[in-house]
Amino acid sequence: MTLKNGRGTTGRVMPSLTGRIVLVTGGARGIGRSVTETLSAAGAEVIIHFNTSRKEAMRLQSSLKSARKNHVVEANLSETGGIEKLAEEVAGITDSLDGLVNNAGIYAGPALEDTRFGEWDSVLNTNLRSQIFLIKMLAANLRKASGSVVNISSIMGVSASPGAYAYQASKSALVHLTRGLALELAPHVRVNCVAPGFIRTDINREGWKDVSFSRTVIESTPLRRWGETVDIAGTVRFLLSGDASFITGQTILVDGGKSLVG
Ligand SMILES: NC(=O)c1ccc[n+]([C@@H]2O[C@H](COP(=O)([O-])OP(=O)(O)OC[C@H]3O[C@@H](n4cnc5c(N)ncnc54)[C@H](OP(=O)(O)O)[C@@H]3O)[C@@H](O)[C@H]2O)c1
Repeated sequence: MTLKNGRGTTGRVMPSLTGRIVLVTGGARGIGRSVTETLSAAGAEVIIHFNTSRKEAMRLQSSLKSARKNHVVEANLSETGGIEKLAEEVAGITDSLDGLVNNAGIYAGPALEDTRFGEWDSVLNTNLRSQIFLIKMLAANLRKASGSVVNISSIMGVSASPGAYAYQASKSALVHLTRGLALELAPHVRVNCVAPGFIRTDINREGWKDVSFSRTVIESTPLRRWGETVDIAGTVRFLLSGDASFITGQTILVDGGKSLVG
């Protein structure tokens, strides 16, 4: 017997997402790209959102195994009009959305004295405001599919460190927002969160290219390595699948154990 979630009675197989349609924000680069590839490999039809990475989005779409079924949508999620545009375009593609991965985000790391209004607004708008309004605007589509939301937070939304206050505030708010929305949208829609540790992407290129900083990250991570984008993508795939059908309102830290030791 094989259940809808791809798990047979005789053993475990990769959770199947065949026939599911999922929106991945910031889906053309970094963690989002890996999520797009992983979900597509599991059989999902992916709506790849991008802001500036048009070429990457187009190339990625044509490289996926079912390129014709995937979609590419452009929107600047730091602006109200961009959020509305993305929600409208998704609604034009489907009225029944199985998954929303709120992945798009930016980092800014100033100390308190260098914190500025403009940068604060930009980080909060991109990392927090767009997430809640996308969920609001797509809630009916998600309900229709008994769908699932995965918000991408950060280890910095769970453990404190000096500096990067807008980033930390946005990411910790996402963890709590996940809990409230899980209650509001239950029992039809599950809402969960993934908090990555240090994952090698463009957002922290300067960090992992710096030999001394990179060594510090490795030495302070119990599993003794930087994370890779596939580490996050596999967890997102799990949370969207039927294997996670009794999980809602939770945040999974995917950080090699780093948050255990500070
Ligand atoms: N890498 C890490 O160590 C790490 C750790 C914890 C959490 N995270 C979180 O993981 C998520 C993905 O980050 P990443 O590491 O993959 O970084 P990345 O490679 O820099 O990717 C950032 C993504 O966000 C999108 N984006 C940025 N500003 C946007 C805007 N105004 N409107 C719409 N989309 C926008 C980008 O789209 P375009 O390229 O199309 O502009 C890009 O796809 C972020 O939420 C980040 O905070 C990352």
